[in-house]
Amino acid sequence: MVSGEGSNLQAILDKLHGRDGIEVVCVASNRAGARGLERARAAAVDTGVFDAAEHGGDRDARDRVLGDWLDQHQVDLVVLAGFMEILSPEFIRRFQGRIVNVHPSLLPAFRGLRPIEQAMDYGVRVMGVTVHFVDEGVDSGPIILQQAFELPYSAELEAIEESVHAIEHELLPRAIRLLASGAVRVNPENPRRGLDRGTS
Ligand code: GRF
Repeated sequence: MVSGEGSNLQAILDKLHGRDGIEVVCVASNRAGARGLERARAAAVDTGVFDAAEHGGDRDARDRVLGDWLDQHQVDLVVLAGFMEILSPEFIRRFQGRIVNVHPSLLPAFRGLRPIEQAMDYGVRVMGVTVHFVDEGVDSGPIILQQAFELPYSAELEAIEESVHAIEHELLPRAIRLLASGAVRVNPENPRRGLDRGTS
């Protein structure tokens, strides 16, 4: 699911789509103008637009229709690749343990909006990217992968964003591959204590 540029979607299409049993079966957006939708179309992947405005601003109603559409496509995993809206608790429960998100900070630091700016304002010297499962909180679900990098003192926002994106484009496909192969899974007994080695 995408809201904007879709560079993470592109990385998934380039690195995973049609390989090792992984298929991007559909791409949904909350915005008709999202560039990510064009990228999906260029890869002949089915697209759908689910704008809450078309449901009288009722996101819960929108999420139900979105969930039905994803189920029709028989998705195993929902990847939030720059999807910039909070999903309803009902949607999260419906796809429990099957939604992942990429967030440009070393969680639990700098949750929510504009995490790179938050980190810069705080003056951290190490930043990073997290891929995590989505639960009902904001950027709070069990962590799958993280990667850190050191910040040069003179770094400007644009240069940092470039570093972050380069990491995201490796980390998110890697996490999806791990999950798809069954190499890791959430331990239902203790999801916060990280992931178990899977069976395959
Ligand atoms: C990424 O930085 C992602 O971490 C954040 O939104 C951005 C989306 O970029 N949640 P793109 O649309 O994949 O290019």
